[in-house]
Amino acid sequence: MELFYFLVIICLSFAFSGRCSNDYSRNDFPEGFVFGSAISAFQWEGAVDEDGRMPSVLDTVTHSSNGSSGVIACDGYHKYKEDVKLMYDMGLDAFRFSISWSRLIPSGRGPVNPKGLRFYKNLIRELKRHGIEPHVTLLHDDLPQALEDEYGGWIDRKIIDDFTAYADVCFREFGNTVKFWSTINEPNMLAMVSYGVGLVPHIHCSPPNGMVNCTKGNTSTEPYIVLHNMLLAHASTARLYKQKYKNKQNGSIGITCFAFWMIPFTSSEEDAIATQRAKDFLLGWVLHPLVFGDYPNVMRRIVGKRLPCFSEEESDLVKDSSDFLGVIHYRTTYTADLSSPSQGDFLSDMAASIIRMGFFHEIIDVHPWGLEGVLEYIKQNYGNPPVYILENGRPTNHHSSLNDVGRVEYLHAYIAAVLNSVRKGSETRGYFQWSFMDLFEFIDPNYTYGLYYVNFSDPERKRSPKTSAFWYSCFLNGTTICPQELKNISISSSPGFSSS
Ligand code: FCB
Repeated sequence: MELFYFLVIICLSFAFSGRCSNDYSRNDFPEGFVFGSAISAFQWEGAVDEDGRMPSVLDTVTHSSNGSSGVIACDGYHKYKEDVKLMYDMGLDAFRFSISWSRLIPSGRGPVNPKGLRFYKNLIRELKRHGIEPHVTLLHDDLPQALEDEYGGWIDRKIIDDFTAYADVCFREFGNTVKFWSTINEPNMLAMVSYGVGLVPHIHCSPPNGMVNCTKGNTSTEPYIVLHNMLLAHASTARLYKQKYKNKQNGSIGITCFAFWMIPFTSSEEDAIATQRAKDFLLGWVLHPLVFGDYPNVMRRIVGKRLPCFSEEESDLVKDSSDFLGVIHYRTTYTADLSSPSQGDFLSDMAASIIRMGFFHEIIDVHPWGLEGVLEYIKQNYGNPPVYILENGRPTNHHSSLNDVGRVEYLHAYIAAVLNSVRKGSETRGYFQWSFMDLFEFIDPNYTYGLYYVNFSDPERKRSPKTSAFWYSCFLNGTTICPQELKNISISSSPGFSSS
């Protein structure tokens, strides 16, 4: 496999034909297929203590070595008009953003903040005015701190009612214009990382499993409890939308799922079985309840009493609650059997180790067949639901060149993989690149994903287009001849792409 990628790299040195893509164009996608780009509230807006916004759990992660921080982030709160203009100029069909719950309802529950309401109405109006479809995520990690303080946030079932009431405000206020709602961003990743190892807020974990020193948490039980409550909150919100708004507003509602693709590390039977187990733990944890009303059997068997149960009513509520699935995919990993006895944490329950592939650990390698694998798996195992890829992109060191050829190579290959999947019958209906501009990437701020570079040392947060911005724009506009900026780069044929 590595040899194959050497060959691909060699291909990069071949002469560039002057086209955005040698082997496909956006016109090859079905009519209505949506191409967009994405950001999240906390990573883009800044203005954390302006106009009545109150803290979220993410407000504790505000500093970084590249000058970015949540306090100002990209200053999207003040620069949204300028940014929408950039999106329009680029040719985006759609823009995925999230609403900051604690900007709209500062205490998490209770009065609506009129200035928060105005901001999102303005942003949505600006997008629509430019013909850009808003895809709104209700919660992208930034739970109001007030709810975390009051009852521990996702740990407590009280969150289900509070989340549903917050969503009710969003549907009522924005639902006449917003047609695509995602409830919660990657619940599986949040449960695993925030409550399993405490790496990011909410920072819950217990020894010996924490990656940081947590002051609270229980690694053995909490990831399962919070994921369960997130599914119930999603399902309760979806029911509300369907009962009260859907007919009038004519929109759809879904949830997202973080999806590595995983392949066995060796050809042993143990690794093959471990890979399937890992798919059940990582993807099935979210998808199985949505499609079949309960967690995968293998999880029930291994996690036992620590895995919460759905009552019959809850199971019915969760089953078929999503109109679409939002897929978040960045990389493919190897999976190996981990036969040591379970320590009672998610990873050892899964009994599989996740091993990164590739030459450079930080720079996600180009394995577009991994995205095809995810889409095929969803198609074959979960009834081929409508899918939107809501995040996909490649990091580069924040201060590296604007000539981000590696990102172009990645996008070119992964969009080709989406086309392949669609041709093979996947119901994938949209693709959102992460991220429209460099954001405050609080897990590792040195690696950013933007089509636009943002200078975080500049008080103006100047945006500068990277080569990938020109490439995506060229692709979106269906242009076959690329602008001058692209003449100096070469793009290989997409690995695994067949133009059938
Ligand atoms: C995803 C998150 C998103 C961003 C990317 C790099 O898992 O949803 O906010 O940080 O990773």
